[in-house]
Amino acid sequence: MSGLRGHAHVHHAVQRDGGASTIEVSALTGNLSAPADVKFELVARRQQLTLASGAKISAWAYNGEIAPELRVRQGDMVEVKLVNKDIDNGVTIHWHGYNVPNAMDGVPGITQDVVKPGQSFVYKFRAEQEGSYWFHSHQQASEQVARGLFGSLIVEPANKDKSYDEELTVIQHRWETDQGHRHAFGTEDGMQYEQMKPGTKVKLRVINTHNLSQNYILQGADYRIAAIDGVRIREPGLLPDGTAFRLGSGARHDVVFTMPDHPVMLRTGDSNNGKKDLAIVLYSGARPEAPSFEAASGQFDPSRYGRPAENEETSAAAFDREFEMILGNRMGFYNGKFHFLWTVNGEVHPNTPTFVVKEGELIKTTFVNKSLAEHPMHLHGHHMTVLKKNGKKVETPWLADTLNVHPGESYEVAFKANNPGMWMDHCHNLDHAATGMILHLMYD
Ligand code: C2O
Ligand code: CU
Repeated sequence: MSGLRGHAHVHHAVQRDGGASTIEVSALTGNLSAPADVKFELVARRQQLTLASGAKISAWAYNGEIAPELRVRQGDMVEVKLVNKDIDNGVTIHWHGYNVPNAMDGVPGITQDVVKPGQSFVYKFRAEQEGSYWFHSHQQASEQVARGLFGSLIVEPANKDKSYDEELTVIQHRWETDQGHRHAFGTEDGMQYEQMKPGTKVKLRVINTHNLSQNYILQGADYRIAAIDGVRIREPGLLPDGTAFRLGSGARHDVVFTMPDHPVMLRTGDSNNGKKDLAIVLYSGARPEAPSFEAASGQFDPSRYGRPAENEETSAAAFDREFEMILGNRMGFYNGKFHFLWTVNGEVHPNTPTFVVKEGELIKTTFVNKSLAEHPMHLHGHHMTVLKKNGKKVETPWLADTLNVHPGESYEVAFKANNPGMWMDHCHNLDHAATGMILHLMYD
């Protein structure tokens, strides 16, 4: 029994009243001296929390909450004041997947000093990209994220998205505390129930914040995956009821469907072993009995879905620089201890290779997974366009900031070097990052 379970946390959307946006595209690239349109304060502190299951956890959390949500509108100048109350080793905030200026990226020792107890730091950035993102501390991240120093960053589009009426942010997390592995989820049987009227167009923003990749199955309605890692899919096709999709750690999918007159359930897991899995059940009328879990009927494949992304990377005849990164593992000493190590080209951080690029260049890299585990590779400050899988062109190139690479797979990805600075690129199984699997991207 693994005891590794998840927590789904649901927020109801706070919709601002509509009205056309007055933000012009040219206004989106202003400098950071413009006044903030929205301000938040996040206080990092230790907090005893009781999960819905009744389990008590010694959490470290922003504002003492499980996954606080920052909701802004595209074009807003966003200011977030981080205050560290009592997290001894210091904290930061990294805007996962959000392509902020380098100084705002929240990586201690690279883009800023760690924020110690009693100190604060003000983050400021223009919310240029709409979509589903999240944030977390990047100081000793494998421990701090596991303990709860994260939340969601939801950027509503400048022009109202009419493709849905109601939305829920669904964060799945696995708690590991002093008392060992803990899970948090809904009620006694692991279900969480939400009322939803038939005919409602529903959007679920599904965010995987725990270290392991996870399958999710939507059961009860045909659905579409409207966005991957915050980026909309063009003309997303209908996926049959029961199709599973897989999120690597840190990845997000927006799921949309029309609420039928029977319950719809988003559940974790691959099997029909209901006892081990978790679900959110949407229903109307009387609360249903726990629905039975069916095995997945198929698996979502982003490499042939919707219309292909089109950008400089997809149309490039040649790239300015090419890299190959082999993801592997071996045993060895690390920080004075004998460890199972996660390597890139045979090396562990800080001896791993660095992408050295010049601003304006088109960069191609191939990730080859020769290890026995999945590696959700996360590049800071840039989205990657996925061009090839296992040596073959994908039918529908798509954009990702966190690309899950399975054992034996290879992916060719490309990005435009358009955000100067010093960036990290690492496995978002944060335990793997903590034992070697970190690279850097440097502009020269
Ligand atoms: Cu979500 Cu470098 O992290
Ligand atoms: Cu990994």
